[in-house]
Parts: sequence; structure tokens; C-alpha cells
Amino acid sequence: MDKIGMKKKACVIGGTGFVASELVKQLLLKGYAVNTTVRNPDDLKKISHLVELQKVGELNIFGADLTEAEKFDAPIAGCELVFHVATPVNFASEDPENDMIKPAIQGVLNILRACSRAKAVKRVILTSSAAAVSINALEGTGFVMDENNWTDVDFLSTAKPPTWGYPASKALAEKAAWKFAEENHIDLIAVVPSMMGGASLTPEIPSSLGLAMSLITGNDFLINALKGMQLLSGSISISHVKDVCRAHIFLAEKESASGRYICCAHNTSVPELAKFLNKRYPQYNIPTEFEGFPSKAKLIISSEKLIKEGFSFEFGIEQVYDETVEYFKSKGALKN
Ligand SMILES: NC(=O)c1ccc[n+]([C@@H]2O[C@H](COP(=O)([O-])OP(=O)(O)OC[C@H]3O[C@@H](n4cnc5c(N)ncnc54)[C@H](OP(=O)(O)O)[C@@H]3O)[C@@H](O)[C@H]2O)c1
Repeated sequence: MDKIGMKKKACVIGGTGFVASELVKQLLLKGYAVNTTVRNPDDLKKISHLVELQKVGELNIFGADLTEAEKFDAPIAGCELVFHVATPVNFASEDPENDMIKPAIQGVLNILRACSRAKAVKRVILTSSAAAVSINALEGTGFVMDENNWTDVDFLSTAKPPTWGYPASKALAEKAAWKFAEENHIDLIAVVPSMMGGASLTPEIPSSLGLAMSLITGNDFLINALKGMQLLSGSISISHVKDVCRAHIFLAEKESASGRYICCAHNTSVPELAKFLNKRYPQYNIPTEFEGFPSKAKLIISSEKLIKEGFSFEFGIEQVYDETVEYFKSKGALKN
């Protein structure tokens, strides 16, 4: 509530997603009135979890695609906080430039322009990614990445490793956001999360959870993708989606916060993670031999700035996986 007893209002861009729907829930539970945008409000299956959340608090659903500039004025009107969570994701794309990079940049600029037109907006919180921080051509181990590090987009667009379009889109969209915010005096915070685990409110299991769970489900294609992630990003870094959403709200409300904040509870490698999971869940056939594959991560991404700001993680790696395993079981995606 504000000083005259009105509910504080927040806007969440991209409410259908794994992270955004958890964020909407946490904001409603904290007493915010929430406006959220979805690409297709008529797709009743895709928005069913948001309709369910309307029982928790005041939640209004608006239709808006990131590329439709004029659609953001109505959902942002009257909101003090705007969380831009949506991002185009298409790992199989043959045209990452048009499928991910351009719409991500256009989207961030459309939303920031709408925020600068709106009278009430006090702070914008952008969901970036560790993929915008840690990808580079450095060789060796023991690197510590913090908020000063940026993914090397020239390396990505020249070497074009598999899935390069996603990290390039995240780094370029975040850079475009910082430039626009500085030029137009917008109070911007970028949350930079690692891969996430935890249960999802969405009707379908999010594909990113399939990746995090691949060593347990035994999906070889996704295990290879996880190995590819370590080779490209330098580590397997993970947090609980609830902590990532708590960090979004913490930083939105914390007056002294500014700049980028890495949000990652645990850094590891595929072989180390496999060993940990094999011991914790002996009932699943989790592989532990990764011959010829780097046993240690090249780097860690550091959440020191976020912790110094006063945030504490509630979920360690054990709880992240315990909850994700239970969630997969509840969805019939994993046997007992
Ligand atoms: N999950 C992770 O492990 C992870 C890790 C680091 C960072 N992040 C970041 O966290 C944010 C949320 O990720 P997530 O895992 O929740 O992804 P997600 O479940 O795939 O959600 C992505 C959201 O973006 C929306 N979207 C995509 N293209 C759009 C467009 N052109 N216009 C409007 N909306 C569009 C999708 O809408 P539809 O429902 O219509 O498709 C969906 O709501 C992203 O910024 C991502 O980069 C995620």
C-alpha cells in the first residue's frame, strides 16, 4: 500500500512464462495490483495459470507482442514498477538475427519508450541472463565473472557456436536497454540470473527445466546440450526460480539498488553436478563418467553484489533439485 492506502501497481511483461508467472504470483502475494502482458490473451490454455492467479489478487491480463510498440501504454499506465521478463526463445532457429536478436532489442526499446511516456513508472527491472555475462574466448580456469563482465558478442557472431543467437540477443538487448535508460534518465535494474530449477506454474514443463533435469531424466540430447552449455558459458550455474523472483522484487523495492545484479546460488560443472545428483538420487541411473570432458568449470559467476545489497538465497542446490524432482514426478515426467 502507498501513503494514501492505494495498492502499489506493477506491470510484468510476458506473464505466461516460467519466471514471469512465479513473479506475478509473488507480487500478488505481497499485495501489489498487477498488470501483465501476454502474446495471445485468447489462448485460454496458455493463460490458464494466470486466470488461476486472478484468485490470489488483482491481476489484469493485456495482449501485447514485443514488436507492437503501441500495445504497452495501457498495461504500464499507473504502474510504479515495470518488470520486463519476456524474451524470444528459439534455440532451433536458422535465422537467429530475425527470430531472437532483432525482436529482443526492439522489445526492450518499445517497453522503455512506453515507460518514459508513462507518468507513474519509478523503476524498470529487466530480466537479463548469465548468458549476457560469461561467454568469451578466454582459455584457462579459475575466472570469476561479475557485473563488469559482458559476453563477447563479436566472438559469438563470428564463431556462431550452436544456440549463439540466444546469448547474443540477451547481451545486445541488455546493452540497448542501458543506453536508452542512460539517455532518457530511466531508473533501470538488470537482474542477471543463471539457469533455474524449481516447480513451474505453467501448464507445460518449461524447456529450460528439461535441460536442468537432463542428467536425471537421461535425455541424451539434453545432456549434450548441458555439456554444450558448460563449454560455451564456462560453468553450470543454477538457482531456484523462487529466489530469482524474490531477487527481482527485492531489487525493485530497494532504493539503493543500481546497475546489474548477478543472481546465482550455485556454480558447478556437468561432471560435478552428475556426481552430486547420483549420490542424492541413487534410484535414477545418473551417469558419472564423462571421459575427455572438463571436470571443472572454467569460471564462476559471482552474486556477491546482490548479497552485499542485503539479499539472501533461500534455496541451495539440494533444495533446487529436490523441488524440481518432485515437480517432474507430479507431472508424470519422472518415475518415483
Ligand atoms: N529459465 C532460465 O533458466 C533462465 C535463465 C536465465 C535467464 N532467463 C531469462 O528469464 C526470462 C524468462 O525466461 P523463462 O525461462 O521464463 O522463459 P519462457 O518460459 O520461455 O518465457 C518466455 C516468455 O517470453 C514471451 N515472449 C517470447 N517472445 C515474445 C514476443 N515476441 N512478444 C511477447 N512475448 C514474447 C513468451 O510468451 P508466449 O507464452 O506467448 O510464448 C513467454 O511468456 C527471459 O528473459 C530469459 O532470458 C531464464
